[in-house]
Amino acid sequence: METALDVRAIDLMSVGFQKARIILTAAELDIFSKLLSGPKSADDLCEAYGWDLRGLEILLDALASLKLLNKSSESYSIKPQLYMALDPNSEESILPMILHRARMWKSWSNLTSIVKGDFDKGSFIKTDKSRNDIEAFIGAMEVVGRKRAMRIAKDINLDGRKNLLDIGGGSGVYSRALLELNPNLSATLFDLSLVIEITRERITGTKFASRISYVEGDFNKDALPTGHDTVLLSAIIHINGRERNRSLFSKAYQALEPNGLLIIRDHIMDESRISPSDGAIFAVNMLVATREGNTYTFREISEDLIIAGFNDVQLVRGGNQMDQIITALK
Ligand SMILES: C[S@@+](CC[C@H](N)C(=O)[O-])C[C@H]1O[C@@H](n2cnc3c(N)ncnc32)[C@H](O)[C@@H]1O
Repeated sequence: METALDVRAIDLMSVGFQKARIILTAAELDIFSKLLSGPKSADDLCEAYGWDLRGLEILLDALASLKLLNKSSESYSIKPQLYMALDPNSEESILPMILHRARMWKSWSNLTSIVKGDFDKGSFIKTDKSRNDIEAFIGAMEVVGRKRAMRIAKDINLDGRKNLLDIGGGSGVYSRALLELNPNLSATLFDLSLVIEITRERITGTKFASRISYVEGDFNKDALPTGHDTVLLSAIIHINGRERNRSLFSKAYQALEPNGLLIIRDHIMDESRISPSDGAIFAVNMLVATREGNTYTFREISEDLIIAGFNDVQLVRGGNQMDQIITALK
């Protein structure tokens, strides 16, 4: 018989939100940036920002107890080992991801009413995402992608391929990893207009600038640019239901030349749908954030690719952290 989680582990899991909330609030108040210039007391910060002294003292003590901050007499400072991770301007910063999770917190709070069926699904249609929201999301994609993209790119054979279309390319972190490893490749990033604007600004002036072009559009409404020998759908199919994925796969098929290669990176679930566990939990993330998103099995993805016209569908990379890769040929 499979072992069950012990009671202590269940207890820890159910209280995990407390530590998460402390870190999310510190990021939302931008406390780490404010301490980068040197130690400050709760009084200093309250005077500068008009915050509540009791609230801030309790929050800062909790952060010190969690070993994110040092406390010396009444002053707080960032642990030196964490400077790079908590500096918003550092390449190693994890703050964009923490801020992205602070926004996820709000949608996760709706889980009970979503499962009960009394949640207003109209709330999923968000038309009011600010530039700040999108910048934080792009930053978060970059943080999770940076190291993982290179590891994954090493397992994708693009010998002889020249032009990649990255649909929903986001920060371009996966395109850049593939460009790094394939010197004759160029890439076109296709994404919503504000994302393209932000990503273009981030890539301009880098060594990849001359090898990346941009197309603004909505993959649900607009045609995709054609004439590519490779198409990438990285962390895209979980946003959609199966029907929408079938029409996206058809568009990807149209965008490819004969013998074109489609690459899908996502969680690929086994037939039980409970493994990998990260994929089962990510499906909940899609449940609370999208109308029809989910994580899919190899069989489901394969069926939908074949309906769209693809053949030779293969799982070319396994894993358990949204690092699985499926390829298919036109
Ligand atoms: C989870 S992110 C993945 C980003 C990138 N592919 C990666 O793996 O890092 C999803 C991306 O799809 C884009 N996206 C979502 N819906 C879209 C649509 N209807 N048309 C174009 N892009 C879309 C988002 O703006 C975002 O950049």
